[in-house]
Amino acid sequence: MSADSMPPILEVKNISKTLGSKLILDDVSLSLNKGELKVLIGPSGGGKSTLLQCIHYLIPPDAGEVVLEGRPASGAGRGGLCAFRQEIGMIFQDFNLFDHLTAENNVAMALRKVKKHSKAEALERARRELARVGLADKGQLYPAQLSGGQKQRVSIARALAMDPKVMLLDEPTSALDPELIGEVLGVIAELSRSGMTMLMATHQIGFARNLTNEIIFMEAGKIAEAGPPAALLSPGSGSRTADFCAKLSELMGPGR
Ligand SMILES: Nc1ncnc2c1ncn2[C@@H]1O[C@H](COP(=O)(O)OP(=O)(O)OP(=O)(O)O)[C@@H](O)[C@H]1O
Ligand SMILES: [Mg+2]
Repeated sequence: MSADSMPPILEVKNISKTLGSKLILDDVSLSLNKGELKVLIGPSGGGKSTLLQCIHYLIPPDAGEVVLEGRPASGAGRGGLCAFRQEIGMIFQDFNLFDHLTAENNVAMALRKVKKHSKAEALERARRELARVGLADKGQLYPAQLSGGQKQRVSIARALAMDPKVMLLDEPTSALDPELIGEVLGVIAELSRSGMTMLMATHQIGFARNLTNEIIFMEAGKIAEAGPPAALLSPGSGSRTADFCAKLSELMGPGR
């Protein structure tokens, strides 16, 4: 089968979610081919984080389904859902590391608990993944001893150690000081080049436009528009995305 005729690795079909009495996601569909990086942008409260969490079933959707490599997440019962979730790596804005564990034990823990690796095997793999994100010499340090950019790279190493088929990233650089953003974006760019499939909510449009083939603009729980960056971001395109990004760069100043 040629790459063009391969089915998508991840299909999100008609997801809806109500929280409290508010419809947060309204019939959202998208798909990712193997190796693609797609970018979610849009105003605060538009539903990006909720969508990523529904795809990972941290928040189960009310309607619709998520299909990974042709298998619906909800089809296989509880055990099947656990297996599904292990195949998707999730990166959060605030890193979600265990403060009482060293960097290498943060990475090794799921390998031991979930993948049942021996201690030696798990540590060996953890060190390899830390080296891959440029932290070969930081394995013994605790989160409190790491910069924000280093913490986020540990959390990326932890996700990679589980051999995910897809990674979901929720504004992975928005909690970082400006001078630390580049090191995390560099790791994400490298991952994308190595063929990782990713869906990433970010406001780093300058970065994203060079790596993505599709920007998905979400507003009020819906995909308002989606398309290649050249089409959506060109000045004069009149797109909501271009308008939003112009406002964003006014607020943040050039370079952010
Ligand atoms: N547990 C909850 N109960 C009720 N409403 C919620 C809950 N969680 C999120 N929401 C609402 O869902 C909407 C979408 O939030 P979400 O965090 O998905 O948006 P977002 O696009 O990620 O925004 P941001 O850019 O600020 O991260 C918001 O109006 C939020 O207040
Ligand atoms: Mg969010």
